[in-house]
Amino acid sequence: MTIPELYKKKAEGRKITMLTAYDFPFAQMADEAGMDIILVGDSLGVVVQGWANTLPVTMEEMLYHTGMVARAAKNAMVVGDMPFMSYQVSVEDGIRNAGDFLKAGAAAVKLEGGSSVAGLISALSRYDIPVMAHIGLTPQSVHRMGGFKVQGKDGAQAEKLLSDAKAVEEAGAFSVVLEGIPRQAAKKITESISIPTIGIGAGPDCDGQVLVMHDMLGMFDRFTPKFVKRYANIKETAIGAIKKYKEEVESGEFPSDEQSFH
Ligand code: KIV
Repeated sequence: MTIPELYKKKAEGRKITMLTAYDFPFAQMADEAGMDIILVGDSLGVVVQGWANTLPVTMEEMLYHTGMVARAAKNAMVVGDMPFMSYQVSVEDGIRNAGDFLKAGAAAVKLEGGSSVAGLISALSRYDIPVMAHIGLTPQSVHRMGGFKVQGKDGAQAEKLLSDAKAVEEAGAFSVVLEGIPRQAAKKITESISIPTIGIGAGPDCDGQVLVMHDMLGMFDRFTPKFVKRYANIKETAIGAIKKYKEEVESGEFPSDEQSFH
């Protein structure tokens, strides 16, 4: 999957599919299932590391996970998510850290913010580092938002979202994630900009959709946002299998002669 192909999909009205993954086996599954984009999201701070939000995640950790995912992805585009404080301090910092994602195997980076990060997006685009922007409910702004709350609910906020979307497009972003915003606002943005919009909790009118793998496969149940649809219950399946293993070890049924050397 390439950026020109993503533009073509938007132009032809074909939906773009994106899913997070954080390691080799799950990235391989996403790739084999035909995802267009695999996002190595900083959501790994919550669903893999067990933090309450994404703020503690470091560049070192993100590069470690990006390498694993990049080694698994044969067709999907790999996007590395820039963690908190890897691009906020200076444009120089942002360029260096974004470059490290590409060295680790990503084809693009994602960063949160609208007009406030337009300068950085322009600089990265000048050096051919493709940027996916992310506006609306931006998890790195959890403290400003007072929690993970839907954004853009009133007219003025919706207008600000639209101007942010236009700002990141103008700055050179190749796509933009719209998270946690009313579907009407997402539809208006999608119709108003030429780059693909990828929605998560933004309704069905975006050019594509993204979910966190651990949410949609039922591997994370500390909280489940309203916008998540669960397509499997891997946690239940895994606990069942582990319990069976425990029972068989305790009863002496495992290992049998079949699993023994002679
Ligand atoms: O970190 C992440 O997984 C994300 C997606 C939810 C868009 O930013």
